[in-house]
Amino acid sequence: MELCVHGAVREALKLGLSWPLRVRIAQDVARALAVLAAHGVLHRDIKTTNVLLDAAWRAKLCDFNLAIDDASAAKLSHAAGTTEFMSPEALLGDDFSFPSDMFSYGVTLVEIITLRAPGVGDFLVRRPQELFVVNPDELAAARPHDVPASFWMLANDCCDPEVSRALTPPLLPPPLLLLLLW
Ligand SMILES: Nc1ncnc2c1ncn2[C@@H]1O[C@H](COP(=O)(O)OP(=O)(O)O)[C@@H](O)[C@H]1O
Ligand SMILES: [Mg+2]
Repeated sequence: MELCVHGAVREALKLGLSWPLRVRIAQDVARALAVLAAHGVLHRDIKTTNVLLDAAWRAKLCDFNLAIDDASAAKLSHAAGTTEFMSPEALLGDDFSFPSDMFSYGVTLVEIITLRAPGVGDFLVRRPQELFVVNPDELAAARPHDVPASFWMLANDCCDPEVSRALTPPLLPPPLLLLLLW
């Protein structure tokens, strides 16, 4: 992999990236997710520090340390990932598959949109007594006034486990398709 001179997305966001660039980063990661899903690979650690930006500001998904074959028997024996980005089903030790990556993608989009890192200042911290679901009121309160509506809708959909279950690439759902065609 070439050197990604602009570093990880979490750091780059501090520079003040435009909406079109942030949408394109989201598109690049969505494409990477679709390719992984087509090959039956779960990444399991989708987050803003594992998306790098090259010299042309194209986003590359990196860090395949936790990637695993979706059909692997070892998959369920240990939950893995970064807590703040992990899906409820992964945190609960339940069966998980591509929707878990989609959920982590959703949290990644929320950080890209709100410029707030999950877990910092208790933002988007999810609790076992609520089965680790995202609080919709907390999410709504973090919405920037100028975010493109469909970008925000996609982030919200991916953070909703009920919806993200239906968002599994390569069967791209309408909001993700819209994002890719943007
Ligand atoms: N190709 C690359 N270009 C630029 N920076 C990189 C590259 N690969 C990794 N890095 C940097 O190293 C960090 C850690 O890499 P990563 O693959 O996520 O491994 P890990 O998280 O297991 O240490 C990344 O967040 C990034 O800052
Ligand atoms: Mg990493």
